[in-house]
Amino acid sequence: MSFHTLIILFFTGFCAANLTPPLVNISLDLLPEERWLPLVNIFNVKYLRESATRIIDTTVPKWVHHAITPIVEALENYIPQPYAGEIRGMASFYGAGISDVILLNFAYEITAFCTSVVAQDTKGHLYHGRNLDYPHVDILRNLTIDILFIKNGEVVYRGTSFAGYVGLWTGQSPSKFTVSGNERNQGHWWENVISAILLKSSPVSWLVRETLEEAENFQDAVMRLSKVPIITDVYYIVAGVRPAEGVVITRNRRGAADIWPLDTLHGEWYRVETNYDHWKPPPHGDDRRTPTIKALNATGQNNINMETLLQVMSVTPTCNRITVYTTLMSASTPEKYHTVIRQC
Ligand SMILES: *[C@@H]1O[C@H](CO)[C@@H](O)[C@H](O)[C@H]1NC(C)=O
Ligand SMILES: *[C@@H]1O[C@H](CO)[C@@H](O)[C@H](O)[C@H]1NC(C)=O
Ligand SMILES: *[C@@H]1O[C@H](CO)[C@@H](O)[C@H](O)[C@H]1NC(C)=O
Repeated sequence: MSFHTLIILFFTGFCAANLTPPLVNISLDLLPEERWLPLVNIFNVKYLRESATRIIDTTVPKWVHHAITPIVEALENYIPQPYAGEIRGMASFYGAGISDVILLNFAYEITAFCTSVVAQDTKGHLYHGRNLDYPHVDILRNLTIDILFIKNGEVVYRGTSFAGYVGLWTGQSPSKFTVSGNERNQGHWWENVISAILLKSSPVSWLVRETLEEAENFQDAVMRLSKVPIITDVYYIVAGVRPAEGVVITRNRRGAADIWPLDTLHGEWYRVETNYDHWKPPPHGDDRRTPTIKALNATGQNNINMETLLQVMSVTPTCNRITVYTTLMSASTPEKYHTVIRQC
């Protein structure tokens, strides 16, 4: 056993209480207004409403919140379907104001720190791991859900998200591809709102969901995630089902700033993305990249699989105080999709 493996086992021991989140079936055959109703069977509505208030109050200063409520209500007219209907439905069965559910969806859009890994084993199988880190970790651990999106009785795609949120940061199109989004030097939340209105572009998590719903395969997904205008910069990490189908896309609002695929012929069998451009060194205060790479090197391409990738994602500080969940996915074995709520 190498020293690195020992370190991995040591830190895995600290993430003992790992729970799986509740699974929710959302039927795309229903009207957008009715789709998220199953949430009320899982969560106490009063708790959902109080959690939303806490997240908004710590993200948006109170006076701004009051000042912009009419503007946010007007924004409803600009939000495309199905999101407008889903947000309206959510507001009605939460008993919350529609502007608060809209704000909640934009508040989540800006402060997610993350680590994503795509790796290929020696047989050409692809694995995708992601940690989602967020400051309101105590609330969000309670709100994390795995969602199956169902159409005509079939799972068309799935993802991991938070109750109250209509976009996806993590998801899988079965037997096609998996995708995760990591924040990239975001603007302020109000810049995103303005960008959404003026530029008519999508929140980054809506593009993930649309891509999961519509893209035919890995290539098509990479093309959409590279080109469609979005409200803020982001990293999209995508893995497919065939050898070499793994990539990190560095996004500007208008298009791709960089596309960084696996290069297995030259021994580059994994890509690690946190929240910094891969061609620049990570800041000293927040280097989750080097420990993740060390853990992957210690594991080796021969040994990478869903279980060892979970160990890599559990190394400190890749898994840290504000890590909400870890998801492991491999689009060619879609039934193995697995999320754990972290207590690192
Ligand atoms: C959700 O849908 C899946 C796939 O159709 C099914 O196997 C599962 O039993 C459903 N779960 C619930 C809670 O309805
Ligand atoms: C999360 O849920 C648990 C169990 O229901 C509860 O005790 C705890 O207070 C909740 N945490 C937060 C931050 O709401
Ligand atoms: C990981 O392995 C690669 C290839 O052997 C090497 O170039 C790199 O320096 C290693 N990185 C770390 C952080 O150990």
